[in-house]
Amino acid sequence: MRRILVIGIGAGNPEHLTLQAVTALAQVDVFFVIDKGDAKADLVRLRREIVERHATRKSYRWAEVEDPVRDRTTPAYSAAVAEWRSRRTDAFERLLADDLGEDECGAILVWGDPTLYDGTIDVLRAVLARGHVAFDYEVIPGISSVSALAASHRVPLNRVGRGVQITTGRLLSEGFPEDVDDVVVMLDGRLAFRQVDQDDVEIFWGAYVGTPDELLVSGAVGAVADEIERRRAEARERKGWIMDTYLLRRRTR
Ligand SMILES: C[S@@+](CC[C@H](N)C(=O)[O-])C[C@H]1O[C@@H](n2cnc3c(N)ncnc32)[C@H](O)[C@@H]1O
Repeated sequence: MRRILVIGIGAGNPEHLTLQAVTALAQVDVFFVIDKGDAKADLVRLRREIVERHATRKSYRWAEVEDPVRDRTTPAYSAAVAEWRSRRTDAFERLLADDLGEDECGAILVWGDPTLYDGTIDVLRAVLARGHVAFDYEVIPGISSVSALAASHRVPLNRVGRGVQITTGRLLSEGFPEDVDDVVVMLDGRLAFRQVDQDDVEIFWGAYVGTPDELLVSGAVGAVADEIERRRAEARERKGWIMDTYLLRRRTR
């Protein structure tokens, strides 16, 4: 039976690889690389470095899958995501059938933790549901950018006995969630924090967290929003890509 390991590799710091992940890397015959285009070449490079350091089976090989591009211009968000998922499922199905032998072990190295805002598990489940390629899969957790962000700022994610919500920039732009005071925002290309209460909400922002390029800014949103916007734009211009996450903490109530 084909085996797939979905391995969380942390969000940029090679030291964030767990011992379980290191053990898993040593079992792999084929590493599947998901090509997200030139802008993310740094991320592909980190994956290769991790493999070269920890994969002890010297006969391992690489297989590349091109990640289909999602149409981000259409207002029909759900339809565009469904169409993109279907093309992604096609690509993975072909890859698993053609590049992984019946008794081999393949691995997909996932940024951060595979269970948080990552489509790999869903796409594998979709391939299995089609019933054309049989395989078993295992998920190895990784340190998410959320954990890395909180650690770099040296703050807990939640306050005592309270909840915390993880959401996206798109959802935050519809309003600060009603029933929580602590919100982690990912995938925000639109600076949605500008729309929250500027005095009452504190922000703990981080970009490239865990890497040598790490940027951290914290304070009342109104006091630091311009600085975050400026540093974000400069870094994005310099590196060609940016990944940032932030914790918003409502001060009162
Ligand atoms: C597709 S999600 C992947 C999340 C990943 N599975 C995780 O556990 O962190 C990509 C988002 O994660 C966040 N992210 C990932 N790596 C990051 C890093 N090193 N620093 C800051 N944010 C990061 C950003 O919000 C980015 O838009």
